[in-house]
Amino acid sequence: MAGLVPNRRSQRIEESMTLAITAEVLRLKAAGHDVVSLGAGEPDFPTPEPIAKAGIDAIERGDYRYTAASGKPALRAAGAEWLSATFGLSYDESEVIVCAGAKGALHMALDTLVEPGDRVLVLAPYWVSYPALVTMADGEPVIVPPAPQRGFVHDEATLARFADEHDAKGVIANFPNNPSGAVAGRDDVRALVDLCARRDMWIVSDEIYATLLYDDAKHVSPAAVPGGRDRTLVVNGFTKSHTLTGWRTSFLAGPAPVVGAAARIQSQVLGNPCTISQAAMLQACRDPMPAHTAERMRAFDERRRYLVDAVNQLPGLTLQPPRGAFYAMIDVRSICGARGLDDVAAARQLLERHHLALVPGSAFGAPGFLRASYAAAMESLEKAVLRLRTWCEET
Ligand SMILES: Cc1ncc(COP(=O)(O)O)c(C=O)c1O
Repeated sequence: MAGLVPNRRSQRIEESMTLAITAEVLRLKAAGHDVVSLGAGEPDFPTPEPIAKAGIDAIERGDYRYTAASGKPALRAAGAEWLSATFGLSYDESEVIVCAGAKGALHMALDTLVEPGDRVLVLAPYWVSYPALVTMADGEPVIVPPAPQRGFVHDEATLARFADEHDAKGVIANFPNNPSGAVAGRDDVRALVDLCARRDMWIVSDEIYATLLYDDAKHVSPAAVPGGRDRTLVVNGFTKSHTLTGWRTSFLAGPAPVVGAAARIQSQVLGNPCTISQAAMLQACRDPMPAHTAERMRAFDERRRYLVDAVNQLPGLTLQPPRGAFYAMIDVRSICGARGLDDVAAARQLLERHHLALVPGSAFGAPGFLRASYAAAMESLEKAVLRLRTWCEET
């Protein structure tokens, strides 16, 4: 008898590289070092007061019991309206379910779509959990290497080649992208949808940063272009835009039979998403507070512009301006090449010698880059740039 043994599937799930970095940051801080961490994937602003208050009110009036596993009907209806008003997507209440965070929605979506052994295209740089989520759904992630020369948006020919070579059944798209901040334009989204239509592939579109856009960037959902709606599951919500991070809420939208099947899985593994958080999300749908959001975006944009200008002045580093989200991919290929380092070693040097935490691009399938989150105070960004300069000037 082997006793308790984790099964083969669980053994294929790797521990995230970001956790190791967080542990080291904590260790250095505990030892009294002034560590600057640009590793966080969470806005540094609080949940807006009216939204938090809706959660508090729910507790006070006793609205904390089980709900339907797919979420309260009023929230599903409000979600459909919000998706329509904000992104031009057309769903009715039966086509939107409430999940526990975008991560929960992605898990339900992939568990619903993936057949054992199906290959799923994961476009690098990718959010760290996609390969593991595909694996847990008994699929096989196929990583499409990053396209920095195209602003981290793949061309159709590359996607078609990977889809053909691997006989892919689906693709996970994420624009605005974590970690690159890339936003796919309408032509690229159309090309993706056309490819998927030709090959009868599904799309899981993670749009959790869809309202965090800069300059003239526009968010285009694959479900909003011709032929996209019936083969796309959309994941969206207020996690990043309104700091509903710890509240664990999201929407999964798509054709009713598919989201209905996802809701059945959710009913067995989760039950309902947190009732109190549903009240907060309902408030966010009814009043997404555009003026407040614009103010946040001004702050993010100021930091983004500072970081892009400052990093591009450092010897050996380049940074393409991100167009969405709050991440930037610093290109360290030239310094790494000259010093015989990889990005993981570069991140380790920066953390150990200069007490600056960045995430190696390898964690996202993009070696040669370091991800900086600018969901951080200006003062931290300024310190980070000074520390990066010292690292660049070292021999
Ligand atoms: C691209 C992307 N998708 C999903 C998530 C998870 O979001 P949630 O906290 O809503 O589960 C994140 C969080 O960092 C993310 O960056």
